[in-house]
Amino acid sequence: MKPRSILVTTALPYANGDLHLGHMVEQIQADIWVRFLKMQGHTCYFVSGDDAHGTAIMLLAEKRGITPEALIDGFHQQRLTEFAGFQIGVDHYHTTHSRENQLLANLIYERLVAKGDITTRSVKQAFDPVKKLFLADRFIKGTCPQCKALDQYGDNCEQCSATYSALELIAPVSVLSGVSPIEKESLHYFFELAHYKTFLQEWTQTPGHLQRAIANKLQEWFNVGLKAWDISRDAPYFGFLIPGTTDKYFYVWLDAPIGYMAAFKHLCAQQHLNFDAYWHKDATTELYHFIGKDIVNFHTLFWPAMLTGADFRTPTAIFTHGYLTVNHAKMSKSRGTFITANTYLNYCQPEYLRYYFAAKLNASVEDIDLNLEDFRVRVNADLIGKVINIASRAASFIHKQFANRLSEQLDDVGLFHTFTSASHDIAHAYETRDYSKAMRLIMELADSANHYVDAQKPWALMKDPVHCHRVQGICTQALNLFRVLMIYLAPVLPEIAKKVTAFFNVQAFTWQDSQVPLLNHTINSYQPLLQRLEEATITLMQNDAIIPVEPVKPAAATINATDDLATMEFISIDDFMKVDLRIAKIVSAEEVPDAAKLIKLQLDIGEERPRQVFAGIKAHFNPLDLIGKYTVMVANLAPRKMRFGLSEGMVIIASKPDGAQLYLIEPQVGAEVGMKVK
Ligand code: MSP
Ligand code: ZN
Repeated sequence: MKPRSILVTTALPYANGDLHLGHMVEQIQADIWVRFLKMQGHTCYFVSGDDAHGTAIMLLAEKRGITPEALIDGFHQQRLTEFAGFQIGVDHYHTTHSRENQLLANLIYERLVAKGDITTRSVKQAFDPVKKLFLADRFIKGTCPQCKALDQYGDNCEQCSATYSALELIAPVSVLSGVSPIEKESLHYFFELAHYKTFLQEWTQTPGHLQRAIANKLQEWFNVGLKAWDISRDAPYFGFLIPGTTDKYFYVWLDAPIGYMAAFKHLCAQQHLNFDAYWHKDATTELYHFIGKDIVNFHTLFWPAMLTGADFRTPTAIFTHGYLTVNHAKMSKSRGTFITANTYLNYCQPEYLRYYFAAKLNASVEDIDLNLEDFRVRVNADLIGKVINIASRAASFIHKQFANRLSEQLDDVGLFHTFTSASHDIAHAYETRDYSKAMRLIMELADSANHYVDAQKPWALMKDPVHCHRVQGICTQALNLFRVLMIYLAPVLPEIAKKVTAFFNVQAFTWQDSQVPLLNHTINSYQPLLQRLEEATITLMQNDAIIPVEPVKPAAATINATDDLATMEFISIDDFMKVDLRIAKIVSAEEVPDAAKLIKLQLDIGEERPRQVFAGIKAHFNPLDLIGKYTVMVANLAPRKMRFGLSEGMVIIASKPDGAQLYLIEPQVGAEVGMKVK
């Protein structure tokens, strides 16, 4: 096989919010591919980074009272940790707000100017006279000019689907200041995409560049016609000044993909690599971009046109993936399915998700679903039940009976051969990004390995010393089958693969290693490789992910929660101090079957065992939503014997006077179990 030289990128996430599991689909998909290619002996670089420019980032920094630079630095650090946490082996993680990127953006722009591809014209736009800012469509709301629906965004109506320009809205207001925007003209810079119509038609339709579904979709665009692309934004804007201007900035999407080049340029400086070998227009190396389906037009039209216009090479292919849904729905903050990368890592091992995504991903543009129950069952059944199980069973015999020594021969050469000869099909599946097929083939092999061990029954043979030698052979066979499986799984489970090399006392796996058995060799003692994923872990993670939706403002007839304040009687501070209030963590919550109103809570306040409390809140809370939450309990209430058991305190709850709605009292983040509340 001829070694290839390959550069891979993933879309640069915006530096204006937390990464979530949707983002991780792309990173994991690309990371598996890169690790596979590296294992095959190819030279492969993987770069990504933050997309750090634009209005949203500028406004968020303003809201937080910090500079945009400080904001993007914070996100950058956080992402390095999260990438490492998910074992995303980027060779470099850069940012578009970098020197390299500015130089490259200027260079590309100037080359396009020289080609006559940049034009200017005056554009009328909505302008916020208070914030002194031109307003993008999503910063303007008003009444739909067509169906008169209230509160619609500046580009289209959610009620009647009409599309219009923001200036056509009836009674428009700026969402930033609440004032009505004025119309203002300013000079904009355009990239004349139509100059590249012939090139793009040919490039996008050349087999191999794009997936079929994407190429077909683009045909529709060509039929409508290619409009000039507005690449400038007026000050104030967080980005790069357009050369030769003092108040015009590159639109974030102009310099964002150039960020791929900038990231690689930085890596080249670090590792003394040849930048031109990957970006020169005659480069013979390969370049691949992994992206999501929402950013196809930027990558398949503007980007190849810009590159060609500026005399750089175009991508070898663009790989588009679908969107992630959780439990078959859009990720939702109120349902606890909008799981950030950070929240996930606080509860779960990265391997679970890497494997699950691998088991679901193929080369299509279809959405993929993370069903949390299926997720748990699948990773436990496949990774632990099928794969790791083989090693843990066989290793204990080899350790106890044979001083960790593998025998000189395999017990079943034919079966080993079945495993090695699957290498080609599995490699092909990885190469074509059909990971679900690769995982299926690997799990079929794992099934046959387990059948083999079940049929040979080493534990039964062990009872009779005459079979001793045979047992060593069987376990050697089983461990060799396991080793091949782990080589095949290494792109998906790199850290476990590393632990497995330590267990086998061998160098890092290459793909070729799968072809030769490991015999007559002393291994190390087996260390546990992965824990089971428990249901409670998922529940806790989901609870942690829940962000309550903002309550809808009550209409005129508000219940006055304070109506008895006027008639209240006062108590002394000493009276109040008699009540011992403590921060408690709800460690378990379950409905009491025979009681209409009660939920049984176990409350941790830092004592040896949690307190049991019966609370009359069944009608208002789902017990599952309570588990893991912190609240306030009265710790010195005399215990009370109830029909269902002892109640050792009570939780305090807020309610409307009519008791129609109850609210849990939750302390600010950081409050710890057992803290006194006074
Ligand atoms: N900043 C741009 C990309 C610039 S690339 C030169 C951007 N950022 S993003 O943060 O919104 O998205 C980053 C990537 O994550 C995109 O490829 C996007 O499609 C992907 N995803 C974002 N949400 C996703 C899901 N829910 N599911 C799968 N992928 C998702 O776009
Ligand atoms: Zn409408």
